Amino acid sequence: MEALALLFLTTILATSHASHVGEALKPLPIHLLRPLTGSGGHHVHGILCTSWRLAVETNNIRNWTTVPLSCEKYVGHYMLGDLYRKDSKVVADAAAIYAASLKLKGDGKDIWVFDVDETVLSNLPYFAKHGFGAEPFNSTLSNEWVDLGKAPPLPESLKLYKKLLSLGIKVVFLTGRREVKRKITEKNLKNAGFHTWEKVILRLPEEEGAAIVFKSNRRRILEDKGYRIVGNMGDQWSDILGTNVGQRTFKVPDPMYYIS
Ligand SMILES: *[C@@H]1O[C@H](CO)[C@@H](O)[C@H](O)[C@H]1NC(C)=O
Ligand SMILES: *[C@@H]1O[C@H](CO)[C@@H](O)[C@H](O)[C@H]1NC(C)=O
Repeated sequence: MEALALLFLTTILATSHASHVGEALKPLPIHLLRPLTGSGGHHVHGILCTSWRLAVETNNIRNWTTVPLSCEKYVGHYMLGDLYRKDSKVVADAAAIYAASLKLKGDGKDIWVFDVDETVLSNLPYFAKHGFGAEPFNSTLSNEWVDLGKAPPLPESLKLYKKLLSLGIKVVFLTGRREVKRKITEKNLKNAGFHTWEKVILRLPEEEGAAIVFKSNRRRILEDKGYRIVGNMGDQWSDILGTNVGQRTFKVPDPMYYIS
């Protein structure tokens, strides 16, 4: 018992600069990024926020509802800082190299499937006001934000999008957003620099339920129509798992929310 306690203390001292999950051990903040959320979230004891992020990005932790409260600042700094952008660039660069290596048929049937939210459009202006995923999801407020049509592009994904078009690959946006959001979604995509596409696929009322089922079905329909999905990119595992996932998948970082 004592040995264990000592080991724990050593670990704390060795990592005191890092963000810890666990109330009692949290050092006094020098400066708050924003007031901490008062409700929601949950605590995961004994693991670092960096370890938690790695676990959610690799789909080892699943079905999580909110960012652990004690990781709110960590996730906020990650999302607003350099690392998120650098992580995104590594993914986009790998995708660009892969796409350039493809031998395309040139019949207009080679497509790249992109998810929308947190893949090509960023809702960071919204999440920065709502705890970076530490607050429980509020569909009313989220819908109000979406309806503004002001989501900025993820610059790394926009660069990849342009590269794909230049290679002759057509783009399909496949999003869990509802069909009623088509007009504002298309307007937002255009304003963010995504000017052209083969299709924008949104969710019909009869397609409620798990995103992984909806997206698999829609990709199957695309393939039934003769399209070849050469690449598939999303921030959620439900974008890139399931069936008809495409020749290669790419996972964009997103430690703010989980969609099954
Ligand atoms: C996550 O949720 C899905 C859908 O509800 C379920 O099929 C799956 O077993 C859950 N996975 C875990 C690890 O809880
Ligand atoms: C969502 O936010 C609105 C506005 O702040 C609030 O009135 C409503 O109760 C919230 N809904 C949920 C489910 O928390």
